[in-house]
Amino acid sequence: MPFAAGGPTDVTARILGEHMSKTLGQQIEVKNIVGAGGTTAITHGAQSAPDGYTIMIGHMGTHSAAPAFYPNLKYDPTKDFEPIGLAVGTPIVIVARKDFPPKNLKEFIAYLKANSTMIDVAHAGIASVSHTTCLMLTHQLGVKLTEVTYRGTGPALIGLAGGHVDIMCDQIVNLVERIKDGQIKAYAIATPARSPALPDVPTTKEAGLPDYEVSALNALFAPKGTPEPIVARLNEALSRALDDPTTKKRLLDLGGVIPDSQQRTGAWLGDFVKAEVARWSPIIKAAGVLGP
Ligand code: MLT
Repeated sequence: MPFAAGGPTDVTARILGEHMSKTLGQQIEVKNIVGAGGTTAITHGAQSAPDGYTIMIGHMGTHSAAPAFYPNLKYDPTKDFEPIGLAVGTPIVIVARKDFPPKNLKEFIAYLKANSTMIDVAHAGIASVSHTTCLMLTHQLGVKLTEVTYRGTGPALIGLAGGHVDIMCDQIVNLVERIKDGQIKAYAIATPARSPALPDVPTTKEAGLPDYEVSALNALFAPKGTPEPIVARLNEALSRALDDPTTKKRLLDLGGVIPDSQQRTGAWLGDFVKAEVARWSPIIKAAGVLGP
């Protein structure tokens, strides 16, 4: 698990891991190894024994954006894994501390343009989803904000709710409760349709920023060389977890998007990762970002 406990990827891993443990008859232990926008854990996972006892949860950051940010990345998302399956889709929501002055997305855009030198954006490290997606946003708006890096968006959200940072672009599964409680403010969800988990939050299209549409995904991967029957067993356990009514409801209540049957195979995930790496690299390069 490549980020701090309590964040969207960790919560997804724990919810699915709980049900998968029952199917597999083996307790899945979630180990958080943070650093370098999630790439430290994935490097460690990619180099682990391919025996089915170490698997990884990766996402749009670690398995799509990372190669463009880290020229010396020690793994290739398209080659060094046996994709197990897509775990959950996670739309991006633009959020801010509760007393951030703009009242809606149009005011938010004007405010960022007028006050960029005074605004902090929180993220979970270079190439993380929160970093990449807010970079896309600020690039579109032509502003540069001060970046504050956390070990994951779990701790970043605590900073946002405490008013220590101003804004964040984060995966919905981290945010629903705090938005509903009024602990943070939501400006828009970056998907074509509103989320049933946050029906009052407008889409970016409705709110005046139609070109900003982005969604992340979390998915399970095994190290390259993990035998096919083991990968198939893990895939089946994942799919069973996603079909379990209680597990499914927990993910849906958090705003997660459950993969349909066509998206459940390892082959689909492998093709998707290839397409996403190809899609993100030019976007990131166009945003003028150099690797560290
Ligand atoms: C997390 O679990 O903390 C997030 O997935 C980090 C991110 O990529 O923004």
